[in-house]
Amino acid sequence: MTAEGIVLVTGGSRGIGAATATLLAEQGQKVVIVDIAPEPLAGTRVILWPAPFDVANESAVVSSIADIEAAHGPITGLVNAAGVFGKMHRIEHVRMEQWDREVNIDLRGTFLVSRSVGVKMAERRHGAIVNVASVAGMTSGPIHAYTAAKAGVIQITQTMAAEWGRRGVRINAVSPGFTRTAALEAAIASGALNRKSAESPTAMNRLVEPIEVAQAIAWLLSPMSSGVTGINLPVDAGYIAGTTWAAYGGLPEVSGA
Ligand SMILES: NC(=O)c1ccc[n+]([C@@H]2O[C@H](COP(=O)([O-])OP(=O)(O)OC[C@H]3O[C@@H](n4cnc5c(N)ncnc54)[C@H](O)[C@@H]3O)[C@@H](O)[C@H]2O)c1
Repeated sequence: MTAEGIVLVTGGSRGIGAATATLLAEQGQKVVIVDIAPEPLAGTRVILWPAPFDVANESAVVSSIADIEAAHGPITGLVNAAGVFGKMHRIEHVRMEQWDREVNIDLRGTFLVSRSVGVKMAERRHGAIVNVASVAGMTSGPIHAYTAAKAGVIQITQTMAAEWGRRGVRINAVSPGFTRTAALEAAIASGALNRKSAESPTAMNRLVEPIEVAQAIAWLLSPMSSGVTGINLPVDAGYIAGTTWAAYGGLPEVSGA
């Protein structure tokens, strides 16, 4: 990522993508957002690519990236934040069209956009990419396609890091824990998720804020992480650290807290 190039953020109209685009623009980067349901980020300098951009559509991804570079300059930073949540089901009730949708957007879409942009970065010997995976890809849950897709995102991140490391392109993943986006709030409001059950297994006893994921992404895009490639960085308020403590009687409570 350099001052001359642009940062492209997929899924940039909402949630973690919007928080990341806003932060990067505040830091002085030229940021372009794309989304399947494009909406501008009011009050920011973030540039909206106005046409709907579907990360799962190969020909549209390839042609849109060429158009975006022609209009705004070379992409030197990429954030793959577009994604859909997993539908919760017992295994015997997983519908394969739902499986295909989650894998198409969350895994195949991340691969397609990373490859389309990363190949150009490798030709120019310069670039950084961050994929948004999930702690769900590191653990398990009744969201069968989503966990598999996110584990796949962590895997393709390593493979692409090895592929392009000698050509000046770094690629890393972040794995958010339960993050307080509108999408997560909607899942809680619908009863699909329980707020207390999402908060209490974490070491910090809370949800992650979108800006906290954005800050980790900004670091992984920046020269401050110049020696880091192929990693998966959990940003989870200590979800992975804390979640096994239930078997030992639970995490220590703080009196008066
Ligand atoms: N919020 C959480 O708790 C959480 C936790 C772990 C991982 N994540 C991951 O973070 C990413 C962002 O999640 P969020 O909570 O900000 O969700 P969100 O719904 O707020 O944002 C996702 C954005 O992606 C866009 N999008 C969906 N399908 C698309 C497609 N096919 N092409 C292009 N854009 C598309 C949506 O329109 C939306 O603007 C997702 O990959 C999600 O799996 C979220």
